[in-house]
Amino acid sequence: MAKISTSKLNPGMIISQDVKDQQGRLLATSGQEITSKLIRIFKIWGIGETRIKNVSEQEQEAGQDSFISRDILEKAEEITRYRFQYNDLNDPFVFEIFRISCLKKAHRLWEKPETNSFDSYLEPDRVLLQNKAKAKPKTINPDRLIAKTLHLGTIPDIYYKTIAAINNPEASLDDIAGIVSKDVTLTAKVLQLVNSSFYSLKQRVDTLTWALALIGTNQLMTIVSGVSAVSLFKNIPSELLNVVSFWEHSIACGTAARLLSSYQSGQIDAERFFVAGLLHDIGRLILIQNLPRQYLGLLQQVRKEEIFLFTAETNTFGLDHSQIGAHLAGHWNLPESLGKMIKHHHFPGLDSSLQETSIINLADVIVNALEIGNSGEYFVPIIEPHIFEELKLDKEILQPLINEIENQLEDIFEIIYGTPE
Ligand SMILES: [Fe+2]
Ligand SMILES: [Fe+2]
Repeated sequence: MAKISTSKLNPGMIISQDVKDQQGRLLATSGQEITSKLIRIFKIWGIGETRIKNVSEQEQEAGQDSFISRDILEKAEEITRYRFQYNDLNDPFVFEIFRISCLKKAHRLWEKPETNSFDSYLEPDRVLLQNKAKAKPKTINPDRLIAKTLHLGTIPDIYYKTIAAINNPEASLDDIAGIVSKDVTLTAKVLQLVNSSFYSLKQRVDTLTWALALIGTNQLMTIVSGVSAVSLFKNIPSELLNVVSFWEHSIACGTAARLLSSYQSGQIDAERFFVAGLLHDIGRLILIQNLPRQYLGLLQQVRKEEIFLFTAETNTFGLDHSQIGAHLAGHWNLPESLGKMIKHHHFPGLDSSLQETSIINLADVIVNALEIGNSGEYFVPIIEPHIFEELKLDKEILQPLINEIENQLEDIFEIIYGTPE
């Protein structure tokens, strides 16, 4: 008997223990055969893993890893320990994230041996640091910076109109569909999302009204905020930041937060967590776009002092990207709770709505640890020990959760970011 993550289930496998959703509703019984339909149902209801007869996933995994040499595994562990230096590996939950990260790193090193050193790992930034940028402390005004950013970039009018309609309690679904349908790209993205692995629906949905009725306006908000945010920062010079990697990190964090929220009891609006995860580091783009020279100097400080990038931001600017991001959320009239999740994503203990910010914090930690994309941070952010208690999570959920993040990421990345030009 073995636990298999939903993304690895195959039709024909036999369930060995009843499967229930978060509310205890029975979805499948022991002895039942897995079918494609059942896999879709499990995905929709956030079932991370299922017990299956006669398959040992652990043995399978051990078999897959056995070709990786001991040298590579040791190197992977050395690099991963260095990146986890601010975390307590004695905590079983933290250790499980560390263990999975080591294995992932070993796979990467095995696939690309040229990355088998600290030096090559840090290379892109080292090139940057040859520029003699100076990090002069400068106190900034977030509102002024945001105004400048919005002036520089363009958000198509259709996005403002859609958000206004979603926030207007008197607007009907037809009114909203009427606005969205005027934009071909947005319409296509809504349809693409509803037919993606996010929902795993049985039928193909091909009309906008049907799609909106199925996903609801909250999900529409996800797409609109995502596409707006991406369009606003299309022009960041690549020598300052790898924008594709940044959005990969952000979209993966949103996906992780959405999945983590499904493990929580009570009424949870999963889409809000996706938006918060998606936008949690957006303040960093505002800083880079407006203060590029100072940002280069800041990267220098981070390497020399082995500190978090967000600490260096505070040292240099008097505040970090989480505060700027929260200001932007306010500017876009996003719900206050969303701004709070962005503001406290590094230290959820500072927020009164601990459960919500803990989800974003943990999602960010997991995505950073696994090196899915990169928002500029090198060290794995601090995991506050109380958050596992707060979220009542078992470490056993981590591997299936990570599999599911990777499974959904490709689809949702393509919808929000599009194919890189
Ligand atoms: Fe951050
Ligand atoms: Fe992040």
